[in-house]
Amino acid sequence: MAQFLFLCLTKTNFYKFLVMCGIVAYVGQQDALPIIIKGLKRLEYRGYDSAGVALLDQRGLSIYKKKGKVAELEKFLEETGDIHANVGIGHTRWATHGEPNDVNAHPHYSSSERFAMIHNGIIENYEVLKKDLLQKGYTFQSETDTEVFVKFIEDIYQHNGCSLEEALRLALHKVVGAYAIVLINLEEPNTLIAARKGSPLVIGVGEKEYFFASDATPIIEYTNKVVYLDDYEIAVVRNGELQIKTIENVETNPYINQLEMELEAIEKGGYEHFMLKEIFEQPKSIADCLRGRLDAKSGRLVLGGLREYMNKFQNAERIIITACGTSWHAGLVAEYLFEEFARIPVEVEYASEFRYRNPVINEKDFVIAISQSGETADTLAAIELAKSRGATIFGVCNVVGSSIPRTTHAGSYTHAGPEIGVASTKAFTAQISVLAMMALKLGYQRGTLPESTYIQLLHELAAIPAKVEKALQTNALVEKIAAEYKDARNMLYLGRGYNFPVALEGALKLKEISYIHAEGYPAAEMKHGPIALIDEEMPVIFIATQDSSYEKVVSNIQEVKARKGKIVAVVTEGDTQVKALADHVIEVPLTHEAFTPLLSVVPLQLFSYHIAVMRGCNVDQPRNLAKSVTVE
Ligand code: M6R
Repeated sequence: MAQFLFLCLTKTNFYKFLVMCGIVAYVGQQDALPIIIKGLKRLEYRGYDSAGVALLDQRGLSIYKKKGKVAELEKFLEETGDIHANVGIGHTRWATHGEPNDVNAHPHYSSSERFAMIHNGIIENYEVLKKDLLQKGYTFQSETDTEVFVKFIEDIYQHNGCSLEEALRLALHKVVGAYAIVLINLEEPNTLIAARKGSPLVIGVGEKEYFFASDATPIIEYTNKVVYLDDYEIAVVRNGELQIKTIENVETNPYINQLEMELEAIEKGGYEHFMLKEIFEQPKSIADCLRGRLDAKSGRLVLGGLREYMNKFQNAERIIITACGTSWHAGLVAEYLFEEFARIPVEVEYASEFRYRNPVINEKDFVIAISQSGETADTLAAIELAKSRGATIFGVCNVVGSSIPRTTHAGSYTHAGPEIGVASTKAFTAQISVLAMMALKLGYQRGTLPESTYIQLLHELAAIPAKVEKALQTNALVEKIAAEYKDARNMLYLGRGYNFPVALEGALKLKEISYIHAEGYPAAEMKHGPIALIDEEMPVIFIATQDSSYEKVVSNIQEVKARKGKIVAVVTEGDTQVKALADHVIEVPLTHEAFTPLLSVVPLQLFSYHIAVMRGCNVDQPRNLAKSVTVE
C-alpha cells in the first residue's frame, strides 16, 4: 500500500496504560509449538524478560513458562520432552509491574484450568475485579492483571452457563483498559478466541489454519493474507472458520489484506546483527520510500495520503509535529525543512509532554505524528488529544496496519521495511525522506519554493540513495575509530542547523546500545555549559559538513581543541579545514544542506554499532528497552 488513509476508528483513551508484550497463537493442522516459538522470537523486540506457551493435545491443556528470553523457554521445552499439538498460544513479556519470573509469565490459567489466556495490554480496574473474585473464593498465583482477567471471564462463564465466547463478550463490557488477548479452551480443541482494544492483533489466514500475532512478522512465512482486528472486536476460529463480531454481538465481514512484506526482510541475511543489516539497507529503504512518489525529471512529486488533505496542509496556521525518541529527532529535522521551504511555523513536541500540558491547539493546526512502530503509547495519546481539539492528524509510520495509521486522518508510510533492531536506523532516514517530500510539495504548492529550486532539490533528493551507499563505505574506518573510543565513559555530540538533530540522534544511538553516557547539543550551546566538561578524556563528535553554519562549527572545533578534547568529525568529502584540527575525520558526500542528515547520520549509526559490539553489548536487544514502547 503506497499511502494510508484511515478514518478515526478508536474511542480508546487508554494508551498510557498499554504494556509491551508479544503474542502468537496457532490453530490448524501443523505442529503449533515450532510456529509459536519462531513467532515469539520474531516478536522479542516487544519484550524479552519472560516467555510461555499453552498447548492443547490429547493429554490436555498444558502451560510451560520460563523467566528470560524465548531461547530459555525453548531449552526448557526441549528438556521437558516431545510435545506436539495443533493448537497453542504463546507470549513474550516486558514487565511493567510484577517482576519478571516464571509465575508472572503468560499464559495464565483460569481457576479450573479449563482455559488459558495470553494478554498484551493492561486492565486498569483489575484490583476491583480481583477484590470481588477474592470474596467469591478465587485464589491467585501471580501478581498480574491477566490472571484476574481470565478468572473473571471464567466466573461469568460459570455463573451464566454460557459459551466462553459469550462470557468473554460480557467480560469485555466490564473491563477497563487495553488488551489484545487470545484464549484457548480445553473443551474446544479446534478453537481460539481473540479480542482487541488498544493493543495490536493481526490474524493470518491460511488453508484451514489461522495465526494470531501482535504484528505480521510471525505470520509472513505461512501466509500473506491477514486480517487486522479492530478495537472492540472478537475473533473466533472454530473448525477452520473465522468469524468476527463486535462486542455488541454484531457480525462483521473480515477484510483480508495482502501483506507485501518479504520473509527475507525479517531475517539477518548474513549480517551479524539486525542493526548492521538495517544500517546497510538504507540506500534501498530510502529508494523504496521515494519510489513511485518522486520523479525529478518530470518534477512530479506525489504523496497519495496527502491528496485529500493538501488544502488543509497548505492553509494550516501551524504545523505541530509529535513523536518520541528517534522519530522526534526526525521531527526536528522536519521543523527546519518545513520552515525553510514552506514558511509555516512548526512546533516539535515530545508526545509525552504534549499530551499532559493542555496545549493550545485547534482545527487550523496540522499535526504530524511520526512513529516507526505505529504503536507508541505517548504518540497515540497525543494524537487522540489533538484529534479531540479538531486538528487534522497526519501519520508518518513504518509498520503497515499498526495503530497510528488506523487512528489518524491520513498519512504516508515510510516503506523502510521491518526494522527489528531496537535502535532505530533505517526508519529514521525513511522518516526524513517522507518529511522532506512533504516539505518540498508544500513549499512548491504555497509558492514559497521557486520552481527552479524545487526541481533542483528533487534531483538532489533522488540522488541520496547512491550517496548513502558512499557514506556506508566509511564502515571500516569508523570501526577503527570506534576501537579507540570504546572505553570512553562520556561523549559529546555537537552539530548546528540540520545537523543539530543528527547530534541528538548520534548520542541517543550510543547511549541505548553501548550504555556509554552521551549528550547531543547544538554546537553553539557548548559555550553555555558543556564546555566545562572538555578535557583530554572527553571525545567530542562534531558533525561539520559543508553548510551555512560550517565556519561557526569550525570555531567550536577550535574551542574544543584548545581544551585538549578528542575530536572526531563527520565532514564533507574533500574537507581540509576540519581535517587539520580533528583527531579523526569521516567523510560523507556533498548534498544540499537540507538533506545532510540523511548522510551524516550514517557514520554515527556505524560508530555506536561498532562500539556496542566491542563492549560485548546485546546490540539488537539492549537492556531495559523494547522496540515498541506501548507503555507510558
Ligand atoms: O516506534 P516509534 O518510532 O514511535 O518509537 C519511538 C521511540 O521509542 C524510538 O525511536 C526509540 O527512541 C528508539 N529505540 C531509538 O533508537
